[in-house]
Amino acid sequence: MDVKEVERLIKISKERPLMPETYIPWHLEPAAEDVFLPEILTSLQGLEIYHTLTPVQKLELGRHELVQVIASYAWGECLFCLFMTRHILTLPLDHIEHRFLLRELIEEFRHQEMFGQAIAKLGGNPIKQSGMHKFFGEFSNKYLPADYLFMGSVSVELVTDVYGNYARRSPNIYPVLKKMFDLHNIEEGRHILFTKSLLKEYAAKAGYIKRTAYSFVILFNILFVRTMYVKKEIFERIGLENPDHAYKLARANFKKKFSENCLKDIIAFVDSWKGFNRLTRWAWRSVLGANV
Ligand SMILES: [Fe+2]
Ligand SMILES: [Fe+2]
Repeated sequence: MDVKEVERLIKISKERPLMPETYIPWHLEPAAEDVFLPEILTSLQGLEIYHTLTPVQKLELGRHELVQVIASYAWGECLFCLFMTRHILTLPLDHIEHRFLLRELIEEFRHQEMFGQAIAKLGGNPIKQSGMHKFFGEFSNKYLPADYLFMGSVSVELVTDVYGNYARRSPNIYPVLKKMFDLHNIEEGRHILFTKSLLKEYAAKAGYIKRTAYSFVILFNILFVRTMYVKKEIFERIGLENPDHAYKLARANFKKKFSENCLKDIIAFVDSWKGFNRLTRWAWRSVLGANV
């Protein structure tokens, strides 16, 4: 690990903390033209059926799906905080990794509070994660070795970062959400740098089998994230005539859009330590629709 670089990251985190309480203009209410999620990220955009939605239904689709996205972030980050807390117990207090992870924990807890506050501000009602997600999330968090969990975390951070970038750069995004994504982007950028630096050593030491295993762990993490956002209940809430049918179309559409829009950075990362090989490539193609 590049100690100097990690010292720099710790210093920024301490000297320039971004407090959601003051950084985000919570007092602002959404203006009439504001959206909650850029259309490109909503599950139905790009389909014929999207044109049959009224402007209010489109706005509501974005609001519900955005709430689902940030509620999933908060849950995933809470799980990762559990792991980091256990992990730093194995390291001395003055260890550079311990010291950085304390900063990351502080920031991740603030993020969870921020996401919760944003959901409340939007009058959101997140749908609980499925039993499958709950099981795999908790099981892997408890039993996977640290290097695999860091691989998982950096992959989730890389794809959610792309997601956030679309949202914060959208011209008519509700300002509260813009600042929320700005804050998250800045702090997650540091977490990504740290984790990549940490994983460089693991990846350098890894042989064919281990790199294959890392690649699969990342693939499953991305699949895990991708399948948390699109929910049938949302189509019922916005009053679609046939929510089952819309859900089926939306899932396939979202898979396609997600692979087109959100996988570039993670593919470059996996490629950097030769994580694509004969055993993994087919899975990335068929499960994630990735162009690798
Ligand atoms: Fe975060
Ligand atoms: Fe993070």
